[in-house]
Amino acid sequence: MSFKFPLATASWGKEEIDAMQRVIASGMFTMGANVQAFERDFAQYVGSRHCVMVNSGSSANLLIVAALFYTKNPRLKLKRGDEVIVPAVSWSTTYYPLYQYGLKIQVCRYRSAYIELRSRPVGTGGHRQDSRHHWR
Ligand SMILES: Cc1ncc(COP(=O)(O)O)c(C=O)c1O
Repeated sequence: MSFKFPLATASWGKEEIDAMQRVIASGMFTMGANVQAFERDFAQYVGSRHCVMVNSGSSANLLIVAALFYTKNPRLKLKRGDEVIVPAVSWSTTYYPLYQYGLKIQVCRYRSAYIELRSRPVGTGGHRQDSRHHWR
C-alpha cells in the first residue's frame, strides 16, 4: 500500500481569509495589535512568559539557535563545537544558523528501511550514544 502526501495544499478557509482581510485593512502587517494578541495568547497557551513572532520559518530557526546559544540555562545551552542532529533533507536555513554559531552539523543518515541516528545528544558534551528510530 502506498500513499502520497502532497507537498502543499490549500488550507485557508473563509475564517482565515477574513482574518487576513482585517489585517490588510488595519495597515499593520507586522507589529500590530493582532501580532501582539497572538504573542500574548500563544505564550499563555504554552505556559511561557514571552513569545516572539517572526516573519518566517528561517527567522524562527535563527532565533531559536541564538536563544539556545545565549541562554543562561546550562541544560539548554549550546556552545561552539556542539553537535546538532539535522535531517538530511531540509531548507538551507535549517543549516545556516547552526553554521553561523559554530555548531557541528551532524546529518541524520538513513538506510533504506529505517532511519538510524548516531550522534551525541545536542549540548550534552557527554558520551556518544546510539539511538535508532524505525519507520516502517
Ligand atoms: C525547518 C524549516 N526551515 C525553514 C523553513 C522555511 O521557512 P520560510 O520559507 O518561512 O523561511 C521551513 C518552513 O516550513 C521549515 O520547516
